[in-house]
Amino acid sequence: MICSNITRDADGTLRFAGQSVPALAEQYGTPLYLMDEDRIRFNCRMYRQALRDSFGDAALPLYASKACAFKQMYRIMAEEGMGVDTVSCGEIHTALAAGFPAERIWFHGDGKTDADIRWAVEKRVGRFIVDNETELLALAAEAKRQGVKQKILLRVTPGIDPHTFEAVNTGTVDVKFGVAIQTGQALDFARLALEQDALELEGIHCHVGSMVFDESVFEDSAEIMLGFIAEMKEKLGFEAKVLNLGGGYGVRYTEKDKHVDIPARIAALADFIKGRCAALGIAVPMLLLEPGRSIVADAGMTVYTVSTVKHIPNCKNYVIIDGGMPDNPRWCLYRAAYTVLHAERGGGETELFTLAGRCCESGDILQPNVPLPADVRRGDIVCVCTTGAYNYSMASNYNRLGRPPVVLLRSGDSYIAVRRETAEDLCARDL
Ligand code: LLP
Repeated sequence: MICSNITRDADGTLRFAGQSVPALAEQYGTPLYLMDEDRIRFNCRMYRQALRDSFGDAALPLYASKACAFKQMYRIMAEEGMGVDTVSCGEIHTALAAGFPAERIWFHGDGKTDADIRWAVEKRVGRFIVDNETELLALAAEAKRQGVKQKILLRVTPGIDPHTFEAVNTGTVDVKFGVAIQTGQALDFARLALEQDALELEGIHCHVGSMVFDESVFEDSAEIMLGFIAEMKEKLGFEAKVLNLGGGYGVRYTEKDKHVDIPARIAALADFIKGRCAALGIAVPMLLLEPGRSIVADAGMTVYTVSTVKHIPNCKNYVIIDGGMPDNPRWCLYRAAYTVLHAERGGGETELFTLAGRCCESGDILQPNVPLPADVRRGDIVCVCTTGAYNYSMASNYNRLGRPPVVLLRSGDSYIAVRRETAEDLCARDL
């Protein structure tokens, strides 16, 4: 199976986190997001341990909550001792409403408004990751007004191509994020930050991309970032205490994807960083990473009921389900690959089917050409694996479809973390 938390009984019943998927579909209805809480916690602990082993207690993984955010997720992150990376007041509000400590929140984003800045400073959010000079000056003015010394990191771009798909490439010079090191602008950015009395510059941040499998990407960006830390030390007399290298480790969506051994990668990265710091004559900074996908992706599975099966002779076969692009837009947006499984039958004769959604749009495809039992029919339960990241968080109400509930699976038990969106919910804000 694509992930160790998916198994199949001898009678064909699919199990996720040890629990029968057809039984969960029966209990909670479909479409349904399942999330394996034990796996989320395991992934958090893996990151914490790996960072602790290499860098000591100061190093911290920040869960990139854009991957999947709801109150219970932030409670889990609080319990696991994680920090969180947020990009909006909505994410911050959810975190605070769940009791997540404000000082462990890092506030990202290239488009923060004055209202966002005012509110987040009022809430005493731990750190701002400042994207650009305009934001820097707006934040400095607001922190001064509130009499706060706001801790910040600066987002810089190292000019690295992570060899992933374009929509998630964020490290090259021409992207909209941050300030480029290569053009000399990042040094001016740091100088301006150091001039602000109401701001405390702790260090620098970069994020080069998502779905990174390439072994050298993090070392390459660390090399450039550490070089920039040395340059700031030499030219500005400022030695950064914190280096945040962002998120991005890839996960397995299909058998074709490689497994990334994250603890081994972090250990190798640590050796590299320590070696470069010694060579550059700078102190080893506190390392932060911002994993999103690699914390939650393999903890997720989406479960659907088949509505229709269509055979177009000498052309293609469709399995049409009761969800679609509103609950998972990733094939439509990125041509993202997924593994699709029948939840009740494993063996037997298979045929290739295109798994399509119920939206009034021919592009509403979840995955083309997936093998499913040749006798698949209305009422069967099918599921898409590895949907924990960027599915619920990117879900929409297109065609006025309510979003599925999120059910968490914990130690053989299950509970609703986000309830199903009802027709009343859909009209709740309409006047
Ligand atoms: N830090 C920053 C600043 C980011 O922009 C991101 C992702 C992360 C951390 C987390 O990266 P991860 O570990 O999850 O790869 N919607 C797209 C992914 C967009 C990623 C945006 N930034 C998708 O569905 O693939």
